[in-house]
Amino acid sequence: MQVNPNNPIGVFDSGIGGLTVVRALMEQLPFENIIYFGDTARVPYGVKSVETISAYAIQITKFLLRQRVKLLIIACNTMSAVAYQVIKDLSPVPVLDVVDAGARTAVAETHNKFIGVIGTPATINSNAYQKAINTYDPEIQIFSQSCSLFVPLVEEGWLDHQVTRLTVQEYLKPVIAQNIDTLVLGCTHYPLLKPLLQEIMGNQITLVDSAQAITEQAGELLRKNNLLNGQQEPPEYRFYVTDVPIRFQAIGERFLGRTLSNVNVVKW
Ligand code: DGL
Repeated sequence: MQVNPNNPIGVFDSGIGGLTVVRALMEQLPFENIIYFGDTARVPYGVKSVETISAYAIQITKFLLRQRVKLLIIACNTMSAVAYQVIKDLSPVPVLDVVDAGARTAVAETHNKFIGVIGTPATINSNAYQKAINTYDPEIQIFSQSCSLFVPLVEEGWLDHQVTRLTVQEYLKPVIAQNIDTLVLGCTHYPLLKPLLQEIMGNQITLVDSAQAITEQAGELLRKNNLLNGQQEPPEYRFYVTDVPIRFQAIGERFLGRTLSNVNVVKW
């Protein structure tokens, strides 16, 4: 398939969280056009079934392919964990997913081969991180912990609130008890809790942020396939959501670290 390098990169998530990936892309690949899709009407995905998440993921993939994207990035850990294969089977353009990106980085970072993974219940129950990490190194031991309350706390903006601190301490207690040297932040929202997570885990633990990891992979893939946008003009950023965009815009600016415009509502 002939792909135009000026075509946008399609990034998608269950809601706002994937903007952490968009932010990293804007910083590291500043000439790329980006289309972002956030399924704000149906978020959260992390507590839904595999069947439902897959059906939603197919719908979003078809939408983005109609926008002629040159690359698809599944920014949502939950969709990456349970629906990567169905998305890949559907797509004529390359697909990158945060689980693989995070797993690869964690394997490169660990010295003692004990890795912790935190994420939504759907991500943790799928064992996707465990499988991905052990594909790269079967000797690595993985300790997983689902942290369902982190997403609503981040969406509330309680990044260093006493309630969040206590919640983080409670969820991480069993993880701290293991001898891990690396912790994968297996959810779009968790990079916003990084300072707090680092403080509670201790500075000797390496935190893996999949948003950074996947952006590096995207740059590599585009370079290798001669698909980097050669036009060094200000890029176009377009955002699609499925619910009224007021909340997306307000909270999204915190995730993105800049003003958010060109937000469109999709009616299926
Ligand atoms: N985007 C989801 C993830 O990375 C978190 C929000 C949700 O549960 O939908 O797992």
